[in-house]
Amino acid sequence: MCGIVGYIGARRPVPILIEGLKRLEYRGYDSAGVATMNGNDSLFVCKRSGRVRDLEHALPANTPPANVGIAHTRWATHGPPTDTNSHPHLSTDERIAVVHNGIIENHSSLRTMLMSEGVTSRSDTDTEVVPHLIARFYDGDLQAAVKQALRLIQGTYGMVAMSIDEPDRLVVARNGSPIVLGVGDNEMFVASDAPALIAHTRQVVYLEDGEVAVLEAQGFQTTDLADRAINKEVDELDWEIEQIALGDFEHFMLKEIHEQPRSIQRGLRGRALPEFGDAKLGGLNLDRRAFFDIGRICLIACGTSLHAAMAASYLIEELARVPCSVEIASELRYRNPIVDANTLYFAVSQSGETADTLAAMREIRRKGGIVLGVINVVGSTIARESDGGIYIRSGPEIAVASTKAFTSQLLALTLFAIKIGRMRDLSAEAGRGLLRALQEIPEQIELLLEDQSEQLKALSESISEAPYVLFLGRGGNFPAALEGALKLKEVSYIQCEGFAAAEMKHGPIALIGERTPVIFISPKDHLHEKTLSSMEEVKARGGRVIAICNPGDDLVRELADDIIEVPVTHNMLTPFLSVVPLQMIAYYTALHLDRDVDKPRNLAKSVTVE
Ligand code: AGP
Repeated sequence: MCGIVGYIGARRPVPILIEGLKRLEYRGYDSAGVATMNGNDSLFVCKRSGRVRDLEHALPANTPPANVGIAHTRWATHGPPTDTNSHPHLSTDERIAVVHNGIIENHSSLRTMLMSEGVTSRSDTDTEVVPHLIARFYDGDLQAAVKQALRLIQGTYGMVAMSIDEPDRLVVARNGSPIVLGVGDNEMFVASDAPALIAHTRQVVYLEDGEVAVLEAQGFQTTDLADRAINKEVDELDWEIEQIALGDFEHFMLKEIHEQPRSIQRGLRGRALPEFGDAKLGGLNLDRRAFFDIGRICLIACGTSLHAAMAASYLIEELARVPCSVEIASELRYRNPIVDANTLYFAVSQSGETADTLAAMREIRRKGGIVLGVINVVGSTIARESDGGIYIRSGPEIAVASTKAFTSQLLALTLFAIKIGRMRDLSAEAGRGLLRALQEIPEQIELLLEDQSEQLKALSESISEAPYVLFLGRGGNFPAALEGALKLKEVSYIQCEGFAAAEMKHGPIALIGERTPVIFISPKDHLHEKTLSSMEEVKARGGRVIAICNPGDDLVRELADDIIEVPVTHNMLTPFLSVVPLQMIAYYTALHLDRDVDKPRNLAKSVTVE
């Protein structure tokens, strides 16, 4: 999952390309490169392993004049992050350049075919076969040569090609990896994601799989591989560039943790109907009858979205009295799933581009299932291909470690649970109680962040010295514990795990030694007593009990070494509050360990390859 940017117009491309790469760096940040041309007989190419800033430093003060260019920031899949393996990759005669996001699955057989024709590769990458194939078919028409090359390629791609023999165009193609075109005033842009475009235009065009676009400064044309013309709609981006700026925050992760009160308010706006104790969700595309026929709900996701789905499954079963299962997308897609008409499926994804979740959704739909999306990125592939859904309105999430999307996904599914619950046994009063509590959550998170930040910072210093950390919770707080562990792993690289508290006795308790930090999520809910016994068991083995609990909880205070107080809320909604201090602990621990909080090693924001 790399980041691609391209430009054609009257302006110098390098500053536009570098700025665009910086905005896409959350997609991959181990090496980067740029290539430009302006109609004279050579390409200017600069590639470096490392961050975009390393590429920027390597660029000569005056890059050759140009008006067309492509660029790439990489998340290595084939070949280590070196200068040579960075994109763009060139044809042997260096007349064609390509940047690519995705995986060419049959690259080795194509490489063998090319070698038999005397074409050798310079790099270890799968991508390099693409410019060689295009050169193989090139006969004065870049688009035609690209299409012929694509017919030989198996795998996923979002790619841009350019040739010095056709300096007035870029050829763009998509199959499986996201590509957005930006329509400017006598200039055109292309990128893997909209943040690279918003500084220049709000007019965007989302390419679908199998589509090829030719970009010239005046505009674009789209066809499929069989040269059939495709009319494309131009959409308008509905968010501001400030939303992808750091503002007064040191890191996007901290900014996005602090944005949760507003993202939850946005998620509630126009959807909570307190007068009826109900919720309104306009994009589900389900008629009233369909709601009654829902016999089971299945939530499909990966990573943090999976944890949000797991926490929501407790609410859906409790409020709607409908069995709700949660599936790891990468497992479901290859398990030949049994799809039935009474099951409603949800694909839960912040980016809306995660390859495993997308493929699982396609498999379910191929088998006739109805799949709704719970998505953040408007216009993303899962959003466009699903049968309907809920936009979670988190606003752009830049930090690789997802935070505000978790609480917004949980909110969207909670509103769904209330809606379907009210069509069954959930009373208006119970619905009103839940909505009232939901509307208090934003302010409660704000208070929590104000009151607890300093304490969490201090606590994180000691956690940063721990070789291992355990997170424990019950009910909906079990997935919150999993999420706490995922956040700490992702940004601090500390070995840690989350478990259902009672599961600890069945093995993980063996990991507890002297002062092993064990973080308990223990609100005063119906499982409080049980959690206290697990705390006792940890204490008995010398572990250090860190408890997230409600104010004035003396029983916990007696047992815990450290207390983090969170406000009281509805029993079913406690994960909304308990996850926030866990996000902060991960953030401050990473800071203490001097980690790159927003761009942790080996990760990328949306996983668009298998
Ligand atoms: C979470 O912090 C990670 N970035 C990762 O686990 C992420 O949640 C997962 O890749 C799913 O992404 P999605 O929500 O965009 O589908």
